[in-house]
Amino acid sequence: MADNKSATLRLGDKDIDLPIYSPTAGPDVVDIRKLYAEGGVFTYDPGFTSTASCDSTITFIDGDKGELLHRGYPIDQLAGKSHYLEVCYLLLYGELPTGAELEDFEARVTGHTMLHEQMTFFFRGFRRDAHPMAIMVGVVGAMSAFYHDSTDIADPWQREVASIRLIAKMPTIAAWAYKFWIGQPFIYPRNDLDYAGNFLRMCFAVPAEEYEVNPILSRAMDRIFTLHADHEQNASTSTVRLASSSGANPFACIAAGIACLWGPAHGGANQACLEMLEEIGTVDRIPEFIARAKDRDDPFRLMGFGHRVYKNFDPRATVMKQSADEVLDLLGIDDNPKLQVAKELEKVALADPYFAEKKLFPNVDFYSGIILEAMGFPTSMFTPIFALSRTVGWISQWKEQLDDPEHKIGRPRQLYQGATLRDYVDVEDR
Ligand code: ACO
Repeated sequence: MADNKSATLRLGDKDIDLPIYSPTAGPDVVDIRKLYAEGGVFTYDPGFTSTASCDSTITFIDGDKGELLHRGYPIDQLAGKSHYLEVCYLLLYGELPTGAELEDFEARVTGHTMLHEQMTFFFRGFRRDAHPMAIMVGVVGAMSAFYHDSTDIADPWQREVASIRLIAKMPTIAAWAYKFWIGQPFIYPRNDLDYAGNFLRMCFAVPAEEYEVNPILSRAMDRIFTLHADHEQNASTSTVRLASSSGANPFACIAAGIACLWGPAHGGANQACLEMLEEIGTVDRIPEFIARAKDRDDPFRLMGFGHRVYKNFDPRATVMKQSADEVLDLLGIDDNPKLQVAKELEKVALADPYFAEKKLFPNVDFYSGIILEAMGFPTSMFTPIFALSRTVGWISQWKEQLDDPEHKIGRPRQLYQGATLRDYVDVEDR
């Protein structure tokens, strides 16, 4: 890994040489691992804005160019020409599959779509009005109780089985969380359908009626899965890696990732964005919300805007916007007020110097909620769908970390600002 380049850090009268590594793409990385041992200091980087926490070969993002590559392939090509399960294979194993490899992979995933029947009782234990995301955190965490034959991370075969199980079962779990929430019977998977079509059917079919999967909606669903499949070391992925660094089982690690994803600054943004568009209501109210977003004393932010890494545009947002037009067109919705507000809001914000100076652009979540709502999903299902899609990314990163001989337990340091040593005072003397 060393590239014969180094940086010298002067600490008092001591010089410390720090190796610099050049990646295949992206900025050079200074190796500070020996800094504490040699210099007795830590680095300070809240939010990890300048810290590479691992080396990886899975996903590359150039935030200035608005580029997202999975194993080198640009996301717009994958979203346009490939499909979700093929992208899953690519993320997991590093290369696009041959026809035979893809067939085998799809058969393996399809063979694991059902849940252990006793899990239905587990679902029924949740309160009727539980948020589907709360159910997902619980059910995925509980998978280690139902599938303990694939929790030994030292066994490569069990790691593989756990990976396939998670990818295969996540649509069933998300759909059942939804069915439980709306009080309808669980719909079992049908393995003659493709991944996205099967998910749509498990969400929208009822036993009393035939359900026909609309191929255009299934394609749009598949594209949403593909666009969310992985995004390098974001908050939820880093959570999965940190949880896994202690040797935790894969189901526990993915449950941790789901919990992190739920936050409104991360995966919860698509729900928050649609609620914001609803609150804005009509285009004439946009200036009021733009003014609020710019007001430092107002905590309001334009949801679906801004990104830690993309500072030009989010390439996923471009594909998502096209998909929104296609889906609404297919469904004959040409006067969707939220789409009108979204398009106008995007136009107004992009022309505003505040957003230009801070490099704030629509992110993937700006348009995804509009598509999902048009398909019939309530806002509370948006983040579970994101979690389902991102599972393959979490799993790929988890596997990569376990395969890395240098991986060790994650243990950040701190800049301590609290009280120094003092003696305990008895309660009557305080
Ligand atoms: N609306 C208004 N102002 C914003 C927004 C926004 N959406 N996002 C950032 N800013 C401003 C901040 O107020 C800050 O201004 P300041 O420098 O005057 O203090 C500046 O831009 C930088 O913001 P940070 O929060 O420091 O940027 P960071 O990179 O940490 O945050 C984040 C990125 C969390 C995505 C942020 O832009 C945000 O909260 N966006 C809205 C939520 C959202 O859409 N999240 C989805 C992210 S994509 C995903 O998870 C799939």
